Amino acid sequence: MTDKRTYVVLLGAPGAGKGTQAKLLEQATGLPQVSTGDIFRYNLKNETELGKLAKSYMDKGALVPDDVTIRMVEDRLAQPDAARGAIMDGFPRTLAQADAFDRLVAPFGGVAVAPVIVIDDEETVYRITGRRSCRACGSVYHIILNPPKVEGRCDKDNGELYQRDDDQEATVRNRLLVYYKQTAPLIGYYYAKGLLREVNGGETIELVQAALRSLIKLK
Ligand code: AP5
Ligand code: MG
Repeated sequence: MTDKRTYVVLLGAPGAGKGTQAKLLEQATGLPQVSTGDIFRYNLKNETELGKLAKSYMDKGALVPDDVTIRMVEDRLAQPDAARGAIMDGFPRTLAQADAFDRLVAPFGGVAVAPVIVIDDEETVYRITGRRSCRACGSVYHIILNPPKVEGRCDKDNGELYQRDDDQEATVRNRLLVYYKQTAPLIGYYYAKGLLREVNGGETIELVQAALRSLIKLK
Protein backbone atom coordinates (compact mmCIF):
# COMPACT_ATOMS: atom_id res chain seq x y z
CA MET A 1 0.00 0.00 0.00
CA THR A 2 1.30 3.45 -0.80
CA ASP A 3 1.82 5.87 2.06
CA LYS A 4 -1.09 8.32 1.58
CA ARG A 5 -1.00 11.59 3.47
CA THR A 6 -3.38 14.54 3.53
CA TYR A 7 -1.77 17.89 2.72
CA VAL A 8 -4.08 20.89 2.83
CA VAL A 9 -2.71 24.19 1.44
CA LEU A 10 -4.49 27.18 2.99
CA LEU A 11 -4.24 30.22 0.73
CA GLY A 12 -5.35 33.77 1.43
CA ALA A 13 -4.09 37.32 1.97
CA PRO A 14 -2.57 38.44 5.26
CA GLY A 15 -5.36 38.53 7.85
CA ALA A 16 -7.68 36.24 5.88
CA GLY A 17 -7.74 33.87 8.86
CA LYS A 18 -5.28 31.15 7.81
CA GLY A 19 -3.71 30.84 11.26
CA THR A 20 -7.05 30.98 13.10
CA GLN A 21 -8.54 28.30 10.87
CA ALA A 22 -5.41 26.12 10.74
CA LYS A 23 -5.39 25.85 14.54
CA LEU A 24 -9.04 24.73 14.55
CA LEU A 25 -8.42 22.28 11.71
CA GLU A 26 -5.49 20.85 13.65
CA GLN A 27 -7.83 20.08 16.57
CA ALA A 28 -10.51 18.68 14.27
CA THR A 29 -8.35 16.51 12.01
CA GLY A 30 -5.28 15.68 14.10
CA LEU A 31 -3.07 16.98 11.26
CA PRO A 32 -0.50 19.49 12.53
CA GLN A 33 -0.62 23.16 11.53
CA VAL A 34 2.60 24.01 9.72
CA SER A 35 2.95 27.78 9.71
CA THR A 36 6.18 29.08 8.20
CA GLY A 37 5.49 32.48 9.80
CA ASP A 38 5.24 30.82 13.23
CA ILE A 39 8.46 28.84 12.67
CA PHE A 40 10.30 32.03 11.70
CA ARG A 41 8.90 33.83 14.78
CA TYR A 42 9.98 30.91 17.00
CA ASN A 43 13.51 31.20 15.61
CA LEU A 44 13.45 34.94 16.10
CA LYS A 45 12.49 34.55 19.75
CA ASN A 46 15.31 32.05 20.25
CA GLU A 47 17.77 34.31 18.40
CA THR A 48 18.93 31.62 15.96
CA GLU A 49 20.78 32.47 12.74
CA LEU A 50 17.61 31.58 10.81
CA GLY A 51 15.63 33.93 13.05
CA LYS A 52 18.02 36.82 12.44
CA LEU A 53 17.92 36.26 8.70
CA ALA A 54 14.12 36.01 8.63
CA LYS A 55 13.69 39.17 10.71
CA SER A 56 15.42 41.32 8.09
CA TYR A 57 12.71 40.32 5.59
CA MET A 58 9.70 40.05 7.91
CA ASP A 59 10.17 43.56 9.33
CA LYS A 60 9.67 44.96 5.81
CA GLY A 61 6.83 42.60 4.98
CA ALA A 62 8.99 40.93 2.30
CA LEU A 63 9.30 37.18 1.78
CA VAL A 64 12.20 35.16 3.19
CA PRO A 65 14.21 33.59 0.30
CA ASP A 66 12.74 30.42 -1.19
CA ASP A 67 15.73 28.12 -0.62
CA VAL A 68 15.83 28.85 3.12
CA THR A 69 12.05 28.48 3.48
CA ILE A 70 11.81 25.26 1.44
CA ARG A 71 14.60 23.58 3.43
CA MET A 72 12.91 24.56 6.67
CA VAL A 73 9.58 23.05 5.55
CA GLU A 74 11.28 19.82 4.44
CA ASP A 75 12.72 19.46 7.95
CA ARG A 76 9.39 20.24 9.57
CA LEU A 77 7.43 17.73 7.48
CA ALA A 78 9.93 14.99 8.35
CA GLN A 79 8.88 15.23 12.04
CA PRO A 80 6.84 12.29 13.37
CA ASP A 81 3.71 14.36 14.08
CA ALA A 82 3.43 15.10 10.34
CA ALA A 83 3.38 11.42 9.35
CA ARG A 84 -0.26 11.63 8.16
CA GLY A 85 0.04 15.00 6.41
CA ALA A 86 -0.31 18.64 7.46
CA ILE A 87 -2.35 21.82 7.32
CA MET A 88 -0.05 24.23 5.47
CA ASP A 89 -0.47 27.81 6.70
CA GLY A 90 1.52 30.40 4.75
CA PHE A 91 3.47 27.90 2.64
CA PRO A 92 3.81 27.61 -0.32
CA ARG A 93 3.78 31.31 -1.05
CA THR A 94 5.63 31.58 -4.37
CA LEU A 95 5.47 29.49 -7.53
CA ALA A 96 8.96 28.15 -6.79
CA GLN A 97 7.77 27.02 -3.34
CA ALA A 98 4.66 25.44 -4.86
CA ASP A 99 6.76 23.45 -7.34
CA ALA A 100 9.14 22.31 -4.61
CA PHE A 101 6.20 21.35 -2.39
CA ASP A 102 4.61 19.33 -5.19
CA ARG A 103 7.84 17.37 -5.59
CA LEU A 104 8.08 16.83 -1.85
CA VAL A 105 4.55 15.49 -1.41
CA ALA A 106 4.21 13.60 -4.72
CA PRO A 107 5.21 10.25 -3.13
CA PHE A 108 2.30 10.64 -0.67
CA GLY A 109 -0.47 11.37 -3.16
CA GLY A 110 0.25 15.11 -3.62
CA VAL A 111 -1.71 18.10 -2.35
CA ALA A 112 -5.27 17.09 -1.37
CA VAL A 113 -6.98 20.47 -1.62
CA ALA A 114 -6.07 24.18 -1.73
CA PRO A 115 -8.79 26.34 -0.16
CA VAL A 116 -8.40 30.09 -0.66
CA ILE A 117 -9.94 32.22 2.11
CA VAL A 118 -11.14 35.45 0.50
CA ILE A 119 -11.55 38.80 2.33
CA ASP A 120 -11.28 42.38 1.13
CA ASP A 121 -8.18 44.50 1.64
CA GLU A 122 -9.57 46.98 4.16
CA GLU A 123 -10.80 44.08 6.28
CA THR A 124 -7.21 42.76 6.18
CA VAL A 125 -5.85 45.97 7.63
CA TYR A 126 -8.58 46.17 10.31
CA ARG A 127 -8.10 42.56 11.35
CA ILE A 128 -4.33 42.63 11.47
CA THR A 129 -3.89 45.89 13.32
CA GLY A 130 -6.25 44.57 16.05
CA ARG A 131 -4.69 41.11 16.24
CA ARG A 132 -3.05 39.80 19.40
CA SER A 133 -1.18 36.46 19.57
CA CYS A 134 -0.27 34.23 22.50
CA ARG A 135 3.48 34.12 23.21
CA ALA A 136 3.18 30.57 24.53
CA CYS A 137 0.87 28.69 22.14
CA GLY A 138 0.41 31.07 19.19
CA SER A 139 -3.39 31.25 19.50
CA VAL A 140 -4.76 34.27 17.70
CA TYR A 141 -7.27 36.88 18.97
CA HIS A 142 -8.65 40.23 17.85
CA ILE A 143 -9.28 42.98 20.37
CA ILE A 144 -12.80 43.63 18.97
CA LEU A 145 -13.73 40.75 16.64
CA ASN A 146 -12.44 37.82 18.69
CA PRO A 147 -11.41 39.06 22.15
CA PRO A 148 -9.92 36.84 24.88
CA LYS A 149 -11.99 36.34 28.03
CA VAL A 150 -9.38 38.22 30.11
CA GLU A 151 -7.70 41.18 28.40
CA GLY A 152 -4.08 40.47 27.46
CA ARG A 153 -4.24 36.77 28.44
CA CYS A 154 -4.73 33.62 26.34
CA ASP A 155 -7.94 31.67 27.03
CA LYS A 156 -6.12 28.36 26.62
CA ASP A 157 -2.98 28.71 28.75
CA ASN A 158 -3.13 32.21 30.27
CA GLY A 159 -0.05 33.12 28.17
CA GLU A 160 0.76 36.77 27.50
CA LEU A 161 -0.86 38.23 24.38
CA TYR A 162 1.39 40.43 22.23
CA GLN A 163 1.22 42.36 18.97
CA ARG A 164 3.46 41.06 16.17
CA ASP A 165 6.25 43.43 15.05
CA ASP A 166 5.01 43.24 11.45
CA ASP A 167 1.41 44.15 12.32
CA GLN A 168 1.85 47.92 11.90
CA GLU A 169 -0.35 49.42 9.19
CA ALA A 170 2.48 50.40 6.79
CA THR A 171 3.98 46.89 6.95
CA VAL A 172 0.57 45.30 6.50
CA ARG A 173 0.00 47.31 3.30
CA ASN A 174 3.36 46.14 1.97
CA ARG A 175 2.51 42.52 2.87
CA LEU A 176 -0.68 42.91 0.84
CA LEU A 177 1.31 44.15 -2.16
CA VAL A 178 3.73 41.25 -1.80
CA TYR A 179 0.75 38.89 -1.59
CA TYR A 180 -0.70 40.12 -4.88
CA LYS A 181 2.66 40.04 -6.65
CA GLN A 182 4.13 36.80 -5.39
CA THR A 183 1.43 34.63 -3.78
CA ALA A 184 -1.80 35.35 -5.69
CA PRO A 185 -0.41 33.52 -8.78
CA LEU A 186 -0.79 30.32 -6.72
CA ILE A 187 -4.55 30.68 -7.07
CA GLY A 188 -4.17 30.01 -10.80
CA TYR A 189 -1.62 27.31 -10.14
CA TYR A 190 -3.97 25.25 -7.95
CA TYR A 191 -7.01 26.10 -10.07
CA ALA A 192 -5.26 24.54 -13.07
CA LYS A 193 -4.67 21.40 -11.03
CA GLY A 194 -8.34 21.21 -10.04
CA LEU A 195 -7.47 21.66 -6.34
CA LEU A 196 -8.61 25.24 -5.67
CA ARG A 197 -11.75 25.85 -3.57
CA GLU A 198 -12.98 29.32 -2.65
CA VAL A 199 -14.19 30.06 0.90
CA ASN A 200 -15.78 33.35 1.99
CA GLY A 201 -13.51 34.63 4.77
CA GLY A 202 -15.91 37.46 5.63
CA GLU A 203 -18.14 35.00 7.52
CA THR A 204 -17.75 34.19 11.22
CA ILE A 205 -14.84 32.03 12.34
CA GLU A 206 -17.26 29.13 12.94
CA LEU A 207 -18.82 29.33 9.46
CA VAL A 208 -15.44 29.56 7.76
CA GLN A 209 -14.33 26.54 9.77
CA ALA A 210 -17.40 24.54 8.74
CA ALA A 211 -16.80 25.40 5.08
CA LEU A 212 -13.17 24.30 5.32
CA ARG A 213 -14.01 21.09 7.17
CA SER A 214 -16.40 20.09 4.40
CA LEU A 215 -13.52 20.34 1.89
CA ILE A 216 -11.10 18.07 3.74
CA LYS A 217 -11.30 14.33 3.24
CA LEU A 218 -8.66 12.54 5.27
CA LYS A 219 -6.82 9.89 3.25
P1 AP5 B 1 2.64 34.91 8.24
O1 AP5 B 1 2.82 34.76 9.68
O2 AP5 B 1 2.23 33.74 7.44
O3 AP5 B 1 1.64 36.13 7.99
P2 AP5 B 1 0.56 36.43 6.82
O4 AP5 B 1 0.50 35.55 5.65
O5 AP5 B 1 0.79 37.86 6.54
O6 AP5 B 1 -0.76 36.09 7.45
P3 AP5 B 1 -1.21 36.50 8.84
O7 AP5 B 1 -0.63 35.56 9.85
O8 AP5 B 1 -0.98 37.95 9.05
O9 AP5 B 1 -2.80 36.29 8.70
P4 AP5 B 1 -3.69 34.99 8.85
O10 AP5 B 1 -4.31 34.70 7.52
O11 AP5 B 1 -2.95 33.89 9.53
O12 AP5 B 1 -4.83 35.56 9.78
P5 AP5 B 1 -5.18 35.28 11.32
O13 AP5 B 1 -5.81 33.94 11.46
O14 AP5 B 1 -4.03 35.60 12.19
O15 AP5 B 1 3.98 35.48 7.61
C1 AP5 B 1 4.68 36.55 8.20
C2 AP5 B 1 5.97 36.82 7.45
O16 AP5 B 1 6.82 35.66 7.52
C3 AP5 B 1 5.83 37.11 5.96
O17 AP5 B 1 5.54 38.46 5.72
C4 AP5 B 1 7.22 36.69 5.46
O18 AP5 B 1 8.17 37.66 5.73
C5 AP5 B 1 7.53 35.46 6.29
N1 AP5 B 1 7.05 34.21 5.67
C6 AP5 B 1 6.10 33.37 6.15
N2 AP5 B 1 5.92 32.33 5.33
C7 AP5 B 1 6.76 32.50 4.28
C8 AP5 B 1 7.03 31.76 3.10
N3 AP5 B 1 6.36 30.63 2.79
N4 AP5 B 1 7.97 32.23 2.24
C9 AP5 B 1 8.65 33.36 2.52
N5 AP5 B 1 8.44 34.12 3.61
C10 AP5 B 1 7.51 33.69 4.50
O19 AP5 B 1 -6.36 36.37 11.53
C11 AP5 B 1 -6.09 37.77 11.51
C12 AP5 B 1 -6.96 38.50 12.52
O20 AP5 B 1 -8.35 38.40 12.13
C13 AP5 B 1 -6.91 37.92 13.94
O21 AP5 B 1 -6.95 38.99 14.84
C14 AP5 B 1 -8.17 37.02 14.05
O22 AP5 B 1 -8.65 36.95 15.37
C15 AP5 B 1 -9.16 37.76 13.13
N6 AP5 B 1 -10.06 36.86 12.40
C16 AP5 B 1 -9.72 35.72 11.74
N7 AP5 B 1 -10.80 35.18 11.14
C17 AP5 B 1 -11.85 36.01 11.43
C18 AP5 B 1 -13.23 36.00 11.07
N8 AP5 B 1 -13.76 35.04 10.30
N9 AP5 B 1 -14.00 37.02 11.53
C19 AP5 B 1 -13.47 38.00 12.30
N10 AP5 B 1 -12.18 38.06 12.67
C20 AP5 B 1 -11.37 37.08 12.23
MG1 MG C 1 -1.00 33.63 10.31
